[in-house]
Amino acid sequence: MAVTGILLVLFLIVHMLGNLKIFTGETSFDHYAHWLRDLGTPLLPTTWYLWIQRAVLTVAVLAHIGAATVLAVRARAARPVAYAHRRKIHVNYAARTMRWGGVIILLFVIYHILDLTTGHLNPQGDAANPYGNVVADFAPERWYVTLFYTLAIVTLGFHLRHGAFSAFRSLGQQTPKGERRARAAALVFAVVLCAGYLVVPFAVLTGLVA
Ligand code: HEM
Repeated sequence: MAVTGILLVLFLIVHMLGNLKIFTGETSFDHYAHWLRDLGTPLLPTTWYLWIQRAVLTVAVLAHIGAATVLAVRARAARPVAYAHRRKIHVNYAARTMRWGGVIILLFVIYHILDLTTGHLNPQGDAANPYGNVVADFAPERWYVTLFYTLAIVTLGFHLRHGAFSAFRSLGQQTPKGERRARAAALVFAVVLCAGYLVVPFAVLTGLVA
């Protein structure tokens, strides 16, 4: 879980930083999007790097879901008979929503690819002009798209908060002081990532990016 999660998080950090280039203007953002397709050339043919990245991310997502399933099955097998009196343990909202949060994020990514990568669900859908696609997507009259993205990204934030904390634990963090630090670091990380993503649709919605 931790290793595949870290790989996916690395993508999320790089993608968020790339999205922020929207504030540098249309030419610069579109240039960046085209550069992504040329990445690895001339060593690799055009778009090969992108396809390798897509394959790696797909395998990481499948392995992440696989590991989650194995852990859930193992947890159930360890306690096949339900507790007669289940002790109330304090489990926060982020921890309780990992499974459904993951499903929502997966559905969002499928929608998002059809929206901003293939352009099928985008009002402009011009592969040569990703800046225009983003601006058309989050236009004020399409406020419901921004709302949907916001809900998905907040769900991602909860998932990342608990995921990052669990990864710190899996990777060896043990002491109570370390646990407090791990919780705080996971919260800060999730908030920064959510803010970095949300600032783009809200900048378009409010006319800051047009
Ligand atoms: C408001 C926030 C976001 C914006 C504005 C945004 C923007 C974009 C754009 C413009 C593209 C197309 C890039 C291109 O083809 O040149 C893209 C692709 C993509 N985005 Fe996002 N994105 C956002 C959030 C997310 C989130 C939260 C995730 C994951 C949970 C995500 C995952 C992806 C993936 C997997 C691709 C496809 C990359 C590829 O072509 O291989 N995005 N995004």
